[in-house]
Amino acid sequence: KIYDVRYKVLLVGESGVGKTSLIRKLVGTATNKNHMNMLSTIGIDFVKKLYEVDGAKVQLEIWDTAGQERFRSITKMHYRGTKAVVFVYDVADLDSFTRLNFWLESIDQELQCSVEDTPPMIIIGNKSDLEDKREVPTERGEKLADEKLANGFWETSAKQGTNVHACFEKLAYTLTDT
Ligand code: GTP
Repeated sequence: KIYDVRYKVLLVGESGVGKTSLIRKLVGTATNKNHMNMLSTIGIDFVKKLYEVDGAKVQLEIWDTAGQERFRSITKMHYRGTKAVVFVYDVADLDSFTRLNFWLESIDQELQCSVEDTPPMIIIGNKSDLEDKREVPTERGEKLADEKLANGFWETSAKQGTNVHACFEKLAYTLTDT
């Protein structure tokens, strides 16, 4: 085994917020891309990303759930064993932010059935490069993260790479701590 510990991380959010793009930016290898293309036809993708945390090899198994309604019944089956949830919205799309409340509630319900403890969660406002089209102020994202007791809040750009690595590395640390 190449890792000491492995955590399943679920990415959720509306269609088009950039979940797949974030993962691609994070891993970006040919093997992973092929793997993802194959799985994306059924609405589920996952990639593996290895971190070293205090001398331990920590593998994040990051699952990309499709935001589209027609895939939701499939993605629900995959909540089992989830150790962290990453909620993603698009800072240039207010609706995707408003809809996060729906995701927060439904995931919470699903996880109660399949996971022992409520897993850590982080909130990501993606597409921070679209500053001139921004509809969600940073403070609103921070406030939501506070209200929901999230373990982290980040604004990222999958396009430019801003905060993408930092955010998942921090999550690996958070998971190892808890
Ligand atoms: P579903 O698979 O339908 O759930 O969507 P998704 O959340 O995986 O979104 P996806 O990664 O497919 O991105 C949707 C669109 O947004 C694509 O055209 C991306 O190129 C674009 N996009 C993603 N991230 C960014 C970003 O950080 N900045 C900008 N400007 N565009 C982005």
